[in-house]
Amino acid sequence: MNYNKKNIRDIDVAGKKILMRCDFNVPYDKKTGIITDDTRIVATIPTIRYLLDQNCAVILTSHLGRPKGEWKKENSLFSAQEHLEKLLGMPVPMTTDVLGPNTKEMAANLQPGQVMLVENLRFRKEEEKNDPDFAKELASLADIFVFDAFGCSHRAHASTAGVADYMPAVAGFLVEKELAVMGGALENPKRPLVSILGGAKVADKIGVINNLLNIADTIIIGGGMAYTFQKALGGDIGDSLLDEDRLNYARNMVAKAEEKGVKLLLPVDNKITKEFSADAEWQVVPAGEIPDGWMGMDIGPKSVELYTEALKDAGTVIWNGPMGVFEFDAFAEGTNAVAKALADLEGAITIVGGGDSASAVEKSGLADKISHISTGGGASLEFLEGLALPGVVCLNDK
Ligand code: 3PG
Repeated sequence: MNYNKKNIRDIDVAGKKILMRCDFNVPYDKKTGIITDDTRIVATIPTIRYLLDQNCAVILTSHLGRPKGEWKKENSLFSAQEHLEKLLGMPVPMTTDVLGPNTKEMAANLQPGQVMLVENLRFRKEEEKNDPDFAKELASLADIFVFDAFGCSHRAHASTAGVADYMPAVAGFLVEKELAVMGGALENPKRPLVSILGGAKVADKIGVINNLLNIADTIIIGGGMAYTFQKALGGDIGDSLLDEDRLNYARNMVAKAEEKGVKLLLPVDNKITKEFSADAEWQVVPAGEIPDGWMGMDIGPKSVELYTEALKDAGTVIWNGPMGVFEFDAFAEGTNAVAKALADLEGAITIVGGGDSASAVEKSGLADKISHISTGGGASLEFLEGLALPGVVCLNDK
């Protein structure tokens, strides 16, 4: 995929009407509507402010959840609207329909220096179908398309990709940074490139492992997926998470890493419990020696030491997926230790792929010591897999 895409500084946006796709798909309390993590909203503010400073009229669009073409109150963007008003310190009126008469009238009357928000695009089924008429109509609201929704760049929908067929399309600052940092790490990394992969399932990370085996110098594996590797290598994993169907894959990956000269590190010890609970009694055992009736909940202290040492001289680190059940404090040590090792690295480019590892870094209070925390969950995984992302591909090349 070509990462060298035009951004809002590369074209003349002054005084223009802008259709800006954001990803305001943020976690929120379903009863109160209160947003519990506003990272994605905050991350779009520099682009919005720049456009307003350039005297643009800015029409914001987003989705929230998966309402599947139906109007559902719980998927309304009203919480995002209120939050944007606070962050921008100005009114952000929201439409009462999606691309109906109200949207068209509000967009037509929007003045330079003003901003508005279109209700959840997924209230219309044409959005996810990437319906060309819908995309064309959406494009007719404005002069230029600005894509700042990295979190849904892996979706080929009308508002993320379709509109680019009908108007100039450039990246906002959020997308520009994601492409520069993550694209740079994949294409021309400062070496050694160390990748840490965790999370529950091997299946979710197959594409990433396959791609990184061609790029990384060291791959560190932790989290639930590590038990499948341990079992594949003949270890006992008791009742730990197992991807039975991926045992062969895991064996092949170990062999492939050896063949390619990539250092593949697996946990050497684990914190184990008899039950999956926050206050379960635990003990540490060597990896591959987990008795029946016990399950792995985290990497152990020797693994932390091994992983921290492997990270010490890294030039670039890409981290995706927690090392254990970090939601429970007793089993967050491995994940926190990795976060700390990244935060302590001097002169290295440290990248945290979105989702759980991003929440873990936020929770550990070390987020500002990381070079880049991606706003993409599924999108950053697909990016690390080396796949072409429709929301990026459709943007104008430099
Ligand atoms: C995300 O949160 O990963 C994006 O907003 C995409 O949402 P989706 O998986 O519902 O398309």
